[in-house]
Amino acid sequence: MEKYIINGGNKLYGGVEIQSAKNSVLPVLAATVLTDEKIRVLNMPDISDVRNMVKILTRLGCKAVFDGNDLIVDSSCADCYEIPSELAHELRSSVFLLGSVISRFHMAKIAYPGGCDIGLRPVDLHLTGLKRLGVEITEENGYIICKCDKLCGNEIMLDCPSVGATENIMLAAVKAEGTTVIKNAAREPEIEDLQKLLNCMGAKVKGAGSSSITIEGVKRLGGCDFLPISDRIEAGTFLIAAAMCGGEIELKRACAENISSLLHKLRENGCKIRVGNDKIILENHRRLTSVKSIETQPYPGFPTDLQAQITALCCICRGQSIVTENLFETRFKYVPELRKMGADITVINRNAFVRGVEKFRGATVIAHDLRGGAALVSAGLAAEGRSEILDISHIDRGYGSFEYKLRKLGGDIVRVSV
Ligand code: UD1
Repeated sequence: MEKYIINGGNKLYGGVEIQSAKNSVLPVLAATVLTDEKIRVLNMPDISDVRNMVKILTRLGCKAVFDGNDLIVDSSCADCYEIPSELAHELRSSVFLLGSVISRFHMAKIAYPGGCDIGLRPVDLHLTGLKRLGVEITEENGYIICKCDKLCGNEIMLDCPSVGATENIMLAAVKAEGTTVIKNAAREPEIEDLQKLLNCMGAKVKGAGSSSITIEGVKRLGGCDFLPISDRIEAGTFLIAAAMCGGEIELKRACAENISSLLHKLRENGCKIRVGNDKIILENHRRLTSVKSIETQPYPGFPTDLQAQITALCCICRGQSIVTENLFETRFKYVPELRKMGADITVINRNAFVRGVEKFRGATVIAHDLRGGAALVSAGLAAEGRSEILDISHIDRGYGSFEYKLRKLGGDIVRVSV
């Protein structure tokens, strides 16, 4: 077990390069199973979700080797369609493999997925979508078992725009017979990125980024080199940390358009933000004013993956805020931890009522999930005194070289083993 020790109070100055998007890389790795040719994914983030996905691919018989920061996946010898529980529980995105594994083997057996404990996170929409493509699904001892003679294109209407379900159906449909149309599809930039990869492999997908995606099935897919988009959630986390600590930071390889909902709120708070080609500069030298209300929504709305971090910011703004979480039921687990640091927050159902205090005080707190953990780190950096953040393995799931990057910006943060 490892923890962070943070001596708060330093302003953040300097530049940092944003990693490739975790939420793009994971479905991209799932897509590698669709071809016998090599896929080289460039500039992989050094995060444990990727390492776990690689373990699963290896278990399926694929060969995955790192070449510097690139990962080369060769699925030509994939020979297994089962993802056992010890691997699936480490990573919720293992469920994305259902679509590609069923496409390849016409069989798939996967234990119910794990991931952050942030609510019920059902997979019913994934399964309903796959059934519409001709897959028979049964459940047995915690496993989802899928079988089909062949996959056939169909029209699929999602009850809500689930990111994972949209991606899983795309992966299953690219080599199905005929045309698939996904209606009420999620519109996240990572879905457009998956479309880009699939089309590079020879698929015929269009419409990603809008709520209707059309996939014309093709017989075979080939290899390619692919550079995923940059991680808008990592970018947002650094911007919020700098807004909280004060200072001036420049994010390189960052896409402002993909986090315009956050930039809008930060400007409303009082931050100065400049946007250039692939870069975002944030400057703040004073205590910010609260934003009255923030609600998480599917893209292009405010991302649920930045909810914890923006709430931490609201805690030290002048005035009151209401933060509403509309996507996941239990995404306020970090709140009691922020309270230990002096925050004044009351949670009622899906709303966090925040009254701004002057400063956080250093404290020992526990990271219960990935984004909540990142919020605690930002609070520790902005706090007066010393904080310890325990259980940081959650943070390692999604932030590569986190403390290294923060130290480069001037944060006093070290990782120690306990
Ligand atoms: C993805 C992201 C995650 C982000 C989330 C929402 C990845 C690897 N993860 O997760 O970081 O927080 O999008 O932007 O890309 N739902 C159902 N049934 C389903 C599937 C989802 O009811 O079968 C509901 C969920 O409970 C939730 C909502 O749909 O309320 C959105 O979830 P979804 O978009 O599927 O999130 P993930 O794909 O799991």
